[in-house]
Amino acid sequence: MNDKYTKGAVVLHWLVAIGIIVNLWIGLRFDYTPEDSIRAAINFHKSLGITVLGLVILRVLWRLTHVPPAIPTTYQAWEQKLSRLVHGLLYGLIVLVPFSGWLHDSAWKDAAKHPLVLFDVVPWFRLPIVNGLTDAQKDHWHDLLGGLHTATAYVLLAAVALHILGALKHQFLDKHRELQRMWF
Ligand code: HEM
Repeated sequence: MNDKYTKGAVVLHWLVAIGIIVNLWIGLRFDYTPEDSIRAAINFHKSLGITVLGLVILRVLWRLTHVPPAIPTTYQAWEQKLSRLVHGLLYGLIVLVPFSGWLHDSAWKDAAKHPLVLFDVVPWFRLPIVNGLTDAQKDHWHDLLGGLHTATAYVLLAAVALHILGALKHQFLDKHRELQRMWF
């Protein structure tokens, strides 16, 4: 059994990782972002989030069509279980967080006045989920989906922290060649 991920999987892993960490950072800083740059920050956040969602779809397709390297049997049983659990949670959340952000933005009653243009270059579309609803109903869905986006983003933050701590433990405390598995 191969003990390394393929080049394509490694590229996708690190692109998605960087995109998610940058977007968590930007999102968590919204409340502290000055008024004159908040619009640009939110637009960049949406552009990066949609890009991450595209990369995540490619990653899920890779995962469905390839057998990943097995978790080393030298890891203790609880570590193997926990790592499977965190990986499963991460796969779910990396889809759910950007998708709920997109839904939240699509339910915005002023969406039509603020077209979504990725990185100010690529015109993008909203999901037609609130078509035909009144402004009050749109507000309701916008708040609800915003709550879902925030809550899932916090769980993702915790899962990413656990994932990084686990990798560092194996690499530096247990002296396994852990990071090399996800490198070229
Ligand atoms: C990598 C994917 C993403 C991550 C990790 C992420 C993370 C976050 C975080 C942490 C917040 C702040 C939550 C809070 O404290 O209230 C946030 C807010 C937000 N996100 Fe995302 N997000 C992602 C993708 C998206 C996408 C794809 C969109 C829309 C197309 C989006 C739209 C928004 C909006 C509109 C807000 C609220 C901004 C405001 O305060 O008005 N996000 N996101």
